[in-house]
Amino acid sequence: MSVYTAFFSATGNSRQAALAIASGIAEDASEIDMTVRSQAGAHSFAPDDILVVAAPVYKGRVYRGAMERFSLLSGSGTRCIVAVSYGNRAYDDALLELADAMEAQGFRVIGAAASVGRHTYGTIAQGRPGGDDLAALRDFGRRAVEAPSDGALRIPGTRPYREGGDGGAYRPSTSGGCISCGLCARLCPEGAIGPGCRTVDSSRCISCFRCIRVCPRGARTMEGDSGYAAFARMLTERLSVRQENAFYTKEEDR
Ligand SMILES: Cc1cc2nc3c(=O)[nH]c(=O)nc-3n(C[C@H](O)[C@H](O)[C@H](O)COP(=O)(O)O)c2cc1C
Repeated sequence: MSVYTAFFSATGNSRQAALAIASGIAEDASEIDMTVRSQAGAHSFAPDDILVVAAPVYKGRVYRGAMERFSLLSGSGTRCIVAVSYGNRAYDDALLELADAMEAQGFRVIGAAASVGRHTYGTIAQGRPGGDDLAALRDFGRRAVEAPSDGALRIPGTRPYREGGDGGAYRPSTSGGCISCGLCARLCPEGAIGPGCRTVDSSRCISCFRCIRVCPRGARTMEGDSGYAAFARMLTERLSVRQENAFYTKEEDR
């Protein structure tokens, strides 16, 4: 039996969740990082493998680009745990959508988790996932594989799924501190940034803010965008109440 994680994770929360879940099953899980579109390839899994697949919630759905990448994964009755990371608002239909897709691709979904991670925008759920979140995710991973396989797994959400899954409208800019190291361009999930770090294809940018988080000089920024500043303030205020992680296993639903 081999344990794998496959994830899209622009700002690292979904990756942390996937690795924590997998660590509850085995200490040597492999990472399949599908965040950068040009690096995401096809993978087939054996019947006795276990796959943990994780992605962020964008507007109540799984980010569409993540779903496209995950369509390259195929199972053969392989056990699968689905996980979404959400920014303290809600996960709506995202978890259900991901579970449905994995089942359709030959996996047997044995558990589902929606965990809170720092929101891309504003200052929401900062520091999450924290130590307690990661411990709970790890424990969930262990419980999901130990649960009896004949139970029902009831994941919240509605079909047809709500509209969503697309990126946002904000476009970071490059400030004078940029040294054109190329890191943001290499790590941009959608290849939206030119090699010199200064040109951006606005039609490809999804507002994931990965470039802002990874820039060693803090040169990718939303500073000076008053529309974004007002939105970030409003969202931070609206989402100030702590939300909890949700775990679904067959065991608990029996
Ligand atoms: C365009 C966009 C839409 C988002 N929509 C939601 C949402 O509907 N609900 C929510 O709680 N968080 C939402 N978020 C926040 C992310 O789901 C959250 O920050 C997540 O932990 C990011 O995961 P990652 O670090 O793996 O990329 C959104 C973020 C972006 C960029």
